[in-house]
Amino acid sequence: MDDPVIDRCKTGIPVLDDRILRGGIPRGTMVLVTGSSGVGKTTLSCQFLFNGATMFNENGLLFTLTESVSQMKRFMNQFSFYDEEAVEKKKVQFFDMRAIYKQMGMDKDQYTVSDMNSLLRIIDEIVTNYNIKRLVIDSITAMIFRMPDKEKIRDFLYRLGNIIFEHNAVALLTAEEASGTRFYTEQGIEFICDGIIFLTEREVGNTLLRSLQVVKLRGTAHNRSEHEMVITQSGIALTERTF
Ligand SMILES: Nc1ncnc2c1ncn2[C@@H]1O[C@H](COP(=O)(O)OP(=O)(O)OP(=O)(O)O)[C@@H](O)[C@H]1O
Ligand SMILES: [Mg+2]
Repeated sequence: MDDPVIDRCKTGIPVLDDRILRGGIPRGTMVLVTGSSGVGKTTLSCQFLFNGATMFNENGLLFTLTESVSQMKRFMNQFSFYDEEAVEKKKVQFFDMRAIYKQMGMDKDQYTVSDMNSLLRIIDEIVTNYNIKRLVIDSITAMIFRMPDKEKIRDFLYRLGNIIFEHNAVALLTAEEASGTRFYTEQGIEFICDGIIFLTEREVGNTLLRSLQVVKLRGTAHNRSEHEMVITQSGIALTERTF
């Protein structure tokens, strides 16, 4: 059942919105989408943006750091949620972060505090100018990679969270899972994010099944079960099955 008290942002993915998130992700929050390589982090994030544009008339933007914009569009174009018109009308935009870094003189090995301030200012400007309600950073791991130390990374993430909060937007930050530890990311990004969506694969019988689990989401009750997830030509779908 939807919780009417909190303003929520629907992913447009059945079962995830209604069964797991009680109506959607609370607005003004930053959610980590984590898991190992190939589990569907980019697909889930893009589907969230396209559904936002086509079903809820909300503007979305993705900063890519690991794939080129043309490659990402080519891959995502294979899914039925991809909507060329949304791209043409700038309802969904893809920005190559590496091009932005180049323009800003930030194509260097390590960032200074001033670089990090400029980066936050640019993000804030873009979110404001395009009235972005759904933001994806793919991946946050790559974005913080050149920041000098853990404290500065934390400070950066707090301030990024403030930008999202002030715009009443939702940000999905993708990250590679930390292997062999109790943590979801190497850098402890999960402690600063308001929510964690964990994607993984598990062996059931002799097949490998995908799954999605909302591990935390501040400000709302939610289902914490690991739900079976499939990726098809329609994109990501969840089944009622839990593990
Ligand atoms: N058209 C399709 N139909 C079904 N499954 C697909 C299709 N296209 C891609 N996939 C599956 O989706 C996976 C890719 O998902 P995605 O790129 O979203 O993962 P990711 O978690 O972002 O990976 P990475 O960490 O490498 O960035 C592929 O490994 C593939 O198994
Ligand atoms: Mg990816």
